[in-house]
Parts: sequence; C-alpha cells; structure tokens
Amino acid sequence: MIQLFDLSKNFGPNVALNNVNLRIHRGEFVFVTGPSGAGKTTLLRLIFGSEKPASGYLLINSINLNRISRSKLDLLRRKIGFVFQDFKLLSKKTVFENVAIALEVMGLRPRFIRKKTHQTLRLVGLSHKEKAYPLSLSGGEQQRVAIARAVVKDPLILLADEPTGNLDPQLTMEIMELFRGIHRRGTTVVVATHSRELLKDTDFRVIVLHNGKISGDTPSRVPAGGADRSNI
Ligand SMILES: Nc1ncnc2c1ncn2[C@@H]1O[C@H](COP(=O)(O)OP(=O)(O)OP(=O)(O)O)[C@@H](O)[C@H]1O
Ligand SMILES: [Mg+2]
Repeated sequence: MIQLFDLSKNFGPNVALNNVNLRIHRGEFVFVTGPSGAGKTTLLRLIFGSEKPASGYLLINSINLNRISRSKLDLLRRKIGFVFQDFKLLSKKTVFENVAIALEVMGLRPRFIRKKTHQTLRLVGLSHKEKAYPLSLSGGEQQRVAIARAVVKDPLILLADEPTGNLDPQLTMEIMELFRGIHRRGTTVVVATHSRELLKDTDFRVIVLHNGKISGDTPSRVPAGGADRSNI
C-alpha cells in the first residue's frame, strides 16, 4: 500500500531522509520512532504528499506521487487522515466544526456530515465538548479532536505524528486503544512517536529512524488488521 524507493529529502544542507526503502502493507500498524530530528515527521509528510522528495519516489496504492496531478493528489489525500504533531485546530471554530470540516471539503450532504461527526466525537469520548472551542480544552482533549478530524472520513491510511506527546500514561493508553480500534476496522496506521509507553511490549511493527536512515525494523507479531477495504 505504501512503498518508498530510494527516497531522500533535504532542507538546504539538512538531510532529513537519506535513501529510504520501505514497504508498508495494507492493514498494517506501524510505529516509526527515533530521536528528535531523525526524519519521522518528514517521512509522514512525504507519504501525505505535502512534501516532495529530493530524489527517489513513493507509491501509495501503486500511484506514484511524483507523477500525480494536483487535483488527483487532493483526491488521494481524502483517503489519508493526518494527526499533526501540533494539532492544527481552528481556534475560532467549535470542536464539532473542526471535525465536520474534514467532510465539508468533500462536498458531502449536511445530514451525513452531522451524523458522522457526532458518531466520531462519541468514538473519541468528546460528545460533551461539541460546542466548546479548542482553546478551552485540555491538551488531551485537543489531541482527541485532532484524531477525530483525521478519522471522521474513514481514511484508508491514518498517519499520526506524535499523537500522545505531552499526555499522561492513562490518556496515552486511551489514545492507543482508539488507534487499535481504527486499525481493527482495516485502516493502515502509521504512528510516529518517541513514547516509551507506546512502544514497550508492543506487538506491532517498529521502524527506527536515525539521521534519516532506517536503523531497525522489528516485524509485527500480529496479523494485519481487519476488514477488506476497497482500493483507492
Ligand atoms: N521545513 C524545514 N526546514 C528546514 N529543515 C527542516 C524542515 N523540516 C525538517 N527539517 C530538518 O529535517 C530533519 C528531520 O526533521 P523531522 O521534523 O522530520 O524530524 P522528527 O524525527 O520528526 O523530529 P521530532 O521528534 O523532533 O519531531 C531535522 O534535521 C530538521 O531540522
Ligand atoms: Mg516530528
């Protein structure tokens, strides 16, 4: 589903990714870890198509992102949920509106949007905060709004960048449980994290990045997730 071939990315003299080759299968759950500056965020942004590689290429469901038009990329992105390291919530919009917007940009019917948004906020345990504004929420609640916004469109791929940063161990486990549920429904999940809490005793695949290179890749001990989902 996600294939990287000799992928490199630099920002001026800073090498963020250096000749990375990687294959992530449909329905896999993958952690990407490694020290600060190792290239985790850059890797997710390349998969999302919001950064272009300096060299090499990547395929998402056999589609070469180097060769795709802007409009096709926008369509592809509708199938990819991204939980940003810094949330990127809209402070002038309510929790409900922050989540609904992911569906509104797709031009879906208002009734469907309302139903799906309520349902997703229930899933992340935030029904009681629908009318609140992001700045009045705790860090953990903001994190869950960001997750709701990424999963409300039932993405085929969920990319989450440090989704439990700054959360206490209890909330970290709750967020992990949420991701497990999303994975069980058949979504391919890639989580970039430093969290020892998340990585300790995990059964999922763990890819380690160091200075933009893959220095470790521990295979999963559980089968790929769930339901049979259609191609992009
Ligand atoms: N927009 C940018 N401009 C310049 N350099 C950048 C930019 N984005 C990333 N880099 C550099 O690329 C390297 C990898 O950064 P990246 O953000 O991918 O690391 P990371 O593993 O996500 O780190 P962290 O754990 O701190 O989030 C770093 O050296 C960083 O300084
Ligand atoms: Mg990062």
